[in-house]
Amino acid sequence: MEIVKTIEQVRKVVSEAGMASREIGLVPTMGALHEGHFSLIKAAKKQCDFVAVSIFVNPTQFGPGEDLAKYPRPFDADVKACKELGVDIIFAPSDKEMYPEKNITWVNVEKLSEPLCGKSRPGHFRGVATVCAKLFNIVQPDVAFFGQKDAQQAVIIQRMVADLNMPMEIVVCPTVRQIDGLAMSSRNKYLNDKERKDAALLYAALQEAEMLIGAGVRKSSELVREMEKILKISKQIKVEYISIVNAQTLDEIDEVKGKVLIAIAAKLGSARLIDNIMLDVE
Ligand code: PAF
Repeated sequence: MEIVKTIEQVRKVVSEAGMASREIGLVPTMGALHEGHFSLIKAAKKQCDFVAVSIFVNPTQFGPGEDLAKYPRPFDADVKACKELGVDIIFAPSDKEMYPEKNITWVNVEKLSEPLCGKSRPGHFRGVATVCAKLFNIVQPDVAFFGQKDAQQAVIIQRMVADLNMPMEIVVCPTVRQIDGLAMSSRNKYLNDKERKDAALLYAALQEAEMLIGAGVRKSSELVREMEKILKISKQIKVEYISIVNAQTLDEIDEVKGKVLIAIAAKLGSARLIDNIMLDVE
């Protein structure tokens, strides 16, 4: 496995792999790799002949006062995990390599970047779309792999690739959960023991919604009220939003029907956690 830090190097290695007409997969990450990332890498290994993992804590997707400085960066452990999973190349550029000058060219996926997490994190998805466009241009993968846990991000990246005619496929892999249902996230590291225990309530609330829908409830307001009750079991959970939206347009819906996304964002201590489920409702 090669570890490269420059755009020139990664382009050279990947284009050599591409010349052997091999399918190139990219797993874009910010490091601090966990089972969720491992599942993306495994999916990439299954579908592609050559797998690149990018590790870059992208400063342009963090707002002022967010956790850019304290974001975990266990690089050696990440390298070890990638090696064990059979990754072909890690691309780990510096900030200077990715943004040699103050960035003035942005990819803004309008409308889809505004609701849900976009409300409290203005500019976040502009940073995500921009860095993904840069990574796609640098690595030129045939396929890139994203997690369903970041559902809004996945919808935005899929739309960006379609709108900009990028010749590649986006694969979205299921959320990987811990035994109590907590979605794997690098930010789970910020939770203390009590917060970690209460964090499982996010998925419990989503499961409650799924159960109620199964029992015939269709009104979003009723589902949200029942989910709130579950989250209120913990005094530490500060709900940012509970939203029920159309899974493609991300528009709020009053009645669940068709492909719907039920999404939660909440603060627990210093951690901001997100989770969601996607359902196809008759
Ligand atoms: O999901 C992430 O880890 C990041 O948002 C991504 C896609 C690697 C872009 O920095």
